[in-house]
Amino acid sequence: MQLIKITVSSAVLASCLLLLGCKAGGDHPGVEYAPNMYHSVAYEPLSQITDESAGTWVNSLDNGRGEYFNSNQYNQYKMNLRLPPANTVRRTANGWLPYRAGNDTISLRAADKLINPLDSTEAVLLQGKFYYEAYCQHCHGAKAGGDGLVAQGAKIDGVDHSAYPGVANLKGDAYQNITEGHIFHVITYGKGLMGAHGSQVSPEDRWKIAKYVKSLQKK
Ligand code: HEC
Repeated sequence: MQLIKITVSSAVLASCLLLLGCKAGGDHPGVEYAPNMYHSVAYEPLSQITDESAGTWVNSLDNGRGEYFNSNQYNQYKMNLRLPPANTVRRTANGWLPYRAGNDTISLRAADKLINPLDSTEAVLLQGKFYYEAYCQHCHGAKAGGDGLVAQGAKIDGVDHSAYPGVANLKGDAYQNITEGHIFHVITYGKGLMGAHGSQVSPEDRWKIAKYVKSLQKK
């Protein structure tokens, strides 16, 4: 009798425990049988566990390595990611190659042939105007006539600022035929008395400005 009672109550207890495992919801996934059948080992591209014995206490795999070892012993630095081939050039966020022409006269001449990767949409021109006003207008003037406040000199808060000499009048005949590539190059490296703007203005925005300058010239 006693024995039957014990057997029955342990059977009830065991099935209760078993049923408890079936409960899942919210953040609780329930009790999983053999979780490594559902969850693959996380392979991180850069950081990895190189200690082959890490996690041997959880389960020893057939290959003798610990459960957490996840390095790739064939790749450099035991990374899971492969190193890019030598001389790989990283592209910019919009898939462009970086501008690698140098700051020299040959590159300046070659830049004439560059083609603006942006279309002449109204949005591009509007953004070009925005950046022109921020970076160029104070010297080159609102209509690119070379008559910005800095070019002319101005009195600001009672202090005289002398004129910045030689600012190009981009509406003049000498500049009518400059290409968008030429303007892009000049913004990048500057030219003569004009300083470089490559570090302040992204390549995409330089192309927008170039488009806007050409549109100003036609006005
Ligand atoms: C600090 C004043 C100043 C600012 C700001 C400035 N420029 Fe200039 N820019 C000049 C001067 C000065 C020249 C004449 C350079 C020379 O020939 O010595 C010039 C020349 C140019 C030329 C003619 C280059 C050539 O082939 O001779 C272009 C195109 C030009 N600037 C575009 C721009 C654009 C676009 C911006 C804005 C991103 C800009 N500049 C900002 C002063 C400035």
